[in-house]
Amino acid sequence: MDIFNKQRYTITSALPYANGPLHIGHLAGAYIPGDIFVRFLRLNNKDVVYVCGSDEHGAAITIKAKKEGVTPQEIIDKYNKQIKDSFEEFGIAFNIYHRTSEPIHHQLSQEFFLNLHEKGEFIERFSEQYFDEEYQQFLADRYIVGTCPHCHNEGAYGDQCEKCGTSLNPTDLINPKSTLSGKEPILKETKHWYLPLDKYQPWLEKWLIEGKKDILKSNVFGQCQSWLKTGLQPRSMTRDLDWGVDVPLAEAEGKKLYVWLDAPIGYISATKQWAIDEGKDWELYWKKQANEADDSTLIHFIGKDNIVFHCITFPAILHAHGEYILPENVPANEFLNLEGDKLSTSRNHAVWLHEYLEEFPNKQDELRYMLTSILPETSDSEFTWKDFQARVNNELVAILGNFVNRVMVLSHKYFEGKVFLGSALTTQDQAVLDELSKFPDLIKQSLSQYRFREALANFMNAARLGNKYLADEEPWKTIKTDEERVKTVLYVASQIVANLAVLGQPFLPFSSTRVFEMLNLPAQDWTAAGEAHLIPNGHQLGESQLLFDKITDEQVEFQLQKLAQAKASNTLAAPKAAAKANISFDDFAKLDIRVGKILTAEKVAKTKKLLKLTIDTGIDKRTVVSGIAEHFTPEEIIGKQVSILVNLEPREIKGIQSQGMILMAEEADGRLDFVNPISEVSAGSTIR
Ligand code: MF3
Ligand code: ZN
Repeated sequence: MDIFNKQRYTITSALPYANGPLHIGHLAGAYIPGDIFVRFLRLNNKDVVYVCGSDEHGAAITIKAKKEGVTPQEIIDKYNKQIKDSFEEFGIAFNIYHRTSEPIHHQLSQEFFLNLHEKGEFIERFSEQYFDEEYQQFLADRYIVGTCPHCHNEGAYGDQCEKCGTSLNPTDLINPKSTLSGKEPILKETKHWYLPLDKYQPWLEKWLIEGKKDILKSNVFGQCQSWLKTGLQPRSMTRDLDWGVDVPLAEAEGKKLYVWLDAPIGYISATKQWAIDEGKDWELYWKKQANEADDSTLIHFIGKDNIVFHCITFPAILHAHGEYILPENVPANEFLNLEGDKLSTSRNHAVWLHEYLEEFPNKQDELRYMLTSILPETSDSEFTWKDFQARVNNELVAILGNFVNRVMVLSHKYFEGKVFLGSALTTQDQAVLDELSKFPDLIKQSLSQYRFREALANFMNAARLGNKYLADEEPWKTIKTDEERVKTVLYVASQIVANLAVLGQPFLPFSSTRVFEMLNLPAQDWTAAGEAHLIPNGHQLGESQLLFDKITDEQVEFQLQKLAQAKASNTLAAPKAAAKANISFDDFAKLDIRVGKILTAEKVAKTKKLLKLTIDTGIDKRTVVSGIAEHFTPEEIIGKQVSILVNLEPREIKGIQSQGMILMAEEADGRLDFVNPISEVSAGSTIR
């Protein structure tokens, strides 16, 4: 099926939890691809609704509230606003950015639950669930962590291991611990409503594995196949929590819907709200139509940790309901790393969108370009600031910006900004225009397969074509001998610029708008793409504007410093080991600690960590073996003063008698440093 042959599209990007700001990992996962795709559909005059909103329920919210010592309501209000504002300024083209805390959403989620309940789709089951005695609370989802039984990740949550993506039940975890008290939970009986995924397994196999083998990206298909192979289990759709959508049954008082039941329904309630605001019919975008050919095409853009919910759980729910369309595709991306390390909100190892927008004003397209170039489409990828600088300076500035600028400047210099077809087009001109006409299809092909990196590379090749044309024709030389020829060269070059404005719209919307302004042309849709004569003969161009400027070394340095500072303050803030039990003064007095001086130091052969030191203790000169070789070179410590415990029983280490122990300070991250006097003190002085 040609994905671009449909008339109506329902496009979603994952609803971000309103528990923290957006970072580049979010953008690269679900929002940049969704935005490019939607902009492309709209350029092709398709009927599209693109919905998103804040996910405001679940343990992700309540745990954050507890951490900050405020109410969940304060958390969602704060972050919903921040996220919404950042998306808007960054230019993500949602039709609506909604909230799952809105009454219209609660109502629709409850309707879904009741619909399934009345059909007898849920299994009602009493079972023993983990319970934190100290906090008097059942522990589900993010309230419980333990080791994943599949990949042995130690930080798996009660409902999912984010490392391998598998969905879990709390009782699957090895070594479960409450994230509230840190203690091992007890088991306590409670009643819940389960969705029998095992019952839907045959249907899922048919719809997904048989039906979508050639449609899903291989990273998505592979995950689904492996879960189905393991065999699906019933999953509880209700929770013992006090934050969320109420379970609409009298006997379920105090219970809430599972956040992964209500959140995807958020796509639908957002569409409903949009339809109310815009006078549209929401059912056209979500419900099966009398004639299947009239169904909307549903596509979910997400990050890989959300695959199971969008390919298995939510489709099963939609299927069980019966009136709804199912996703055509779920083009999930893998993860984005930053400067050699995983992105982490809690460790503040991230590039935050709201900070980027402040620190790089009017540079939305630079970040879009960078992220699109490195999207983790098939495997994890990495953002570095050096790479950001290189891509902006060597590609956006040097290729695209430079070409547009040269055409504008030369046209103004020679012809007062007018575009004329002078002498007739040469065969080279015609060849360049023919070449240009191929780009729209190349880009479309790539986008139809969700290959956004490739699509962007194709777009940049169109700019390269322009640069090569100018370099070959050298109008700055020809102007001395043949003005009519220069008119035509700049005519052709201007057509390339106009095409770049058209083709660039899905990727670099801000820049495309600026180029249309410069050209003094209204924005054109995709039907104009590839056209040889977008700018009419005799057309007056507008003023030249700067499209991109270089990212400086100082800007890169500043960003790297910021990341380094975050790392350092993490180390400082890392929890320190609890104090040990008290000892008597007599116990302490037994320790004979002296100031010593390192006389010699050498590595112990065949070990990584050990140095053999000779220490002047003031009493004697003795040998000590110390595990500091990964932190200090022998040269840098010879002559340094140290604290040494001199009456520690001698020990043999790697065949060497070690007489005493050097005292070291140890940071939470493992860094070591000496403990020594501020000024020089004579060797043998006691430390008490
Ligand atoms: N809030 C979820 C996350 O950040 C995504 C929810 S997507 C939806 O992982 F389908 F539930 F809406
Ligand atoms: Zn796992």
